[in-house]
Amino acid sequence: MSLVIEGASLLGEGTTDLYVDDHGMLVDSAPAGAERIDAAGLVALPGLVDLHTHLREPGREDAETILTGSRAAALGGYTAVLAMANTTPVTDTAEAATRVWELGREAGLVHVQPVGAVTRGLGGEELAELGLMHRSRAGVTVFSDDGRCVHDARVMRRGLEYVKAFGGVVSQHSQDPSLAGPAACCHEGELSGRLGLPGWPGIAEEVIVARDVMLARHTSSRVHVAHVSTAGSVDVLRWAKARAERDGTWSVTAEVTPHHLLLTTDLLTGYDPTYKVNPPLRPQDDVDALREALADGTIDAVATDHAPHARHDKEHAFVDAAFGMVGLETALAVVRTALPQLSWPDVARVMSVTPARIAGLADQGRPLTPGSPAHVVLVEPDAALTVDRDASASLSRNNPWHGRSLTSRVVHTVYAGRVTVRDGALVDA
Ligand code: DOR
Repeated sequence: MSLVIEGASLLGEGTTDLYVDDHGMLVDSAPAGAERIDAAGLVALPGLVDLHTHLREPGREDAETILTGSRAAALGGYTAVLAMANTTPVTDTAEAATRVWELGREAGLVHVQPVGAVTRGLGGEELAELGLMHRSRAGVTVFSDDGRCVHDARVMRRGLEYVKAFGGVVSQHSQDPSLAGPAACCHEGELSGRLGLPGWPGIAEEVIVARDVMLARHTSSRVHVAHVSTAGSVDVLRWAKARAERDGTWSVTAEVTPHHLLLTTDLLTGYDPTYKVNPPLRPQDDVDALREALADGTIDAVATDHAPHARHDKEHAFVDAAFGMVGLETALAVVRTALPQLSWPDVARVMSVTPARIAGLADQGRPLTPGSPAHVVLVEPDAALTVDRDASASLSRNNPWHGRSLTSRVVHTVYAGRVTVRDGALVDA
């Protein structure tokens, strides 16, 4: 079905019509008999790309499935998501990766790109089938043991060497387990002491970021730092990016989550497990450093770390509850609320263009010009939105934004020329 998107403001600048042919491509004139979308007053951006989504299928379909997670993604303005490997079983073989990729295609609402595990079973010891996953139909290029740190430097070095052969990247959950006890569940600081909760110190993240940038340099490979959460990590990244640019032989990229841009560890005073997440919410000084780093390009991308959990895993005493919070449907509004000064081209850069480049998704994050696939999100820029966790398409309700007011609303999403969300509602529903 061809489509005409009328009167959108392209990246918040000039007003234009966008034409989509029935192959889902942007073209330069209106196709006959096209479906029409009135986009007056809406900002058009390339469809968002999430480097870090937990879809829970296979294994925990009570918390999320590839279909329900795809629905949440479309509602959030996404046209591609990278599905993390910590499923049951783990995505550590070509078969497992291909299955996730196929289920994503069947759902058909966003491109679901599997992330492969770095190590077999996320065990941290033996490399997974990195080459086979890459050569499978899923074409895996991003590898991560997310949820766990690849803490053995020798294994990390081998992983970086291996993925280099095909231009892949290791996305690291930077957290040295030897600097925090196994029961760590929040930021280590004055507050955790008062609350009697065991914590992760910021340094547990920073030493791994520092180690890994040196390993990436040593191996001339690519490392991506998942969910950066401390000012110290930002300092290391700033140095490393300058160094990588001078060397020209290796690279480091980094992402930050929406929740680390807006929420602080002070929320833990009520012991509400909704705010339990890994890496943990940090103090305001860290939040300020993360915002500045995203605005100045030290941090390349926003990634949700959408981590749905069933009630029976999340609604426990703080120390026993699962880590994580949902985030696909609110990410854009949280970014706009946390960084209102970010221009629309910058929002497109950190939520679409750069994540697509990091993930090697050539048809995502493209300029909205003829010849590009029609992956588009249309946003009402100044809408005030009150989040209702029960209005979510996710199967899970661990939503830290419930009842909060955020700025900007995703109105329509178009994936490969198909309208997946119209007037804020799923079209397949
Ligand atoms: O909070 C988190 N939840 N952090 C992680 O690293 C893993 C994730 C999950 O899978 O639930």
